Amino acid sequence: MTARIIDGKQVAADMRAELKAQVAKLKEEGIVPGLAVVLVGEDPASKSYVTAKERACEEIGIYSNDNRLPADTGQAELMALVDKLNKDPKINGILVQLPLPKHLDESEVLLEIDPAKDVDGFHPVNVGKMVVGEKAFLPCTPHGIIQLLIRSGVKIEGAEVVIVGRSNIVGKPIANMLIQKNNTGNATVTVCHTRTKNLAEHVRRADIIIAAAGRPNTVTADMVKEGAVVIDVGVNRVEDATKKRGYRLVGDVDFAAVSEKASLITPVPGGVGPMTITMLLFNTVASAKQAAGKG
Ligand code: GUN
Repeated sequence: MTARIIDGKQVAADMRAELKAQVAKLKEEGIVPGLAVVLVGEDPASKSYVTAKERACEEIGIYSNDNRLPADTGQAELMALVDKLNKDPKINGILVQLPLPKHLDESEVLLEIDPAKDVDGFHPVNVGKMVVGEKAFLPCTPHGIIQLLIRSGVKIEGAEVVIVGRSNIVGKPIANMLIQKNNTGNATVTVCHTRTKNLAEHVRRADIIIAAAGRPNTVTADMVKEGAVVIDVGVNRVEDATKKRGYRLVGDVDFAAVSEKASLITPVPGGVGPMTITMLLFNTVASAKQAAGKG
């Protein structure tokens, strides 16, 4: 079998067009959704993510508030900025780009964000609500993956899903979302990680594989059942002298070989990545609606 490619760029473009129309309608009522982005330091990958997020906001008409701070910013200064943004009525969403420099306490910063503006869905209040199945901001990458599956016609209910990776940003939340008793859940989920004894044995059972380990070639063709759906969340830079910038991006999946066995597969780049930003826009628009009593 040769896999059909799940075109994340196209799905993201469709959703962004829907959001753009919603934003235009809100503007007629005097409501302008606003997103504050906070970046501490000079990490090149984080810088490019933040730039992409700000550009996406502009594209659909969301007000974007850019806060770039030097790498030696102190905890108190960062907490004060979050506090100021919490109180700013023009801001509906606050995103502190992770990872933060090592000297900063990430959990303390995330806890400071008003849960009603936590468009990343990382605040423990939103995480807790998600786990118990209450309305909450859902974290963007897992929510984007679910949208990709649904919009590609993949049946989640009853599927055997194997997730490789247990991060707070992807592995843990997507596992939770997929076991919810609702129309985007009802899957049977296995979460594999660095201490899993026989990764291949688990992955081979999967109807849907979600690779979020952060390591190239974590999922190889011998681990993939014929006809499985493969979602590659990895974004890894590997040296490539033939490229002008000196590297290329690869996912966690051996794309060429796995494409021969899967029924559907996401490419890297152009798969999950565009969806993450789209769901951030989605949450920001939802937050603006809620703040205006329309949520
Ligand atoms: N770093 C990597 N992914 C994310 C994300 O979705 N949100 C934030 N804030 N930081 C990240």
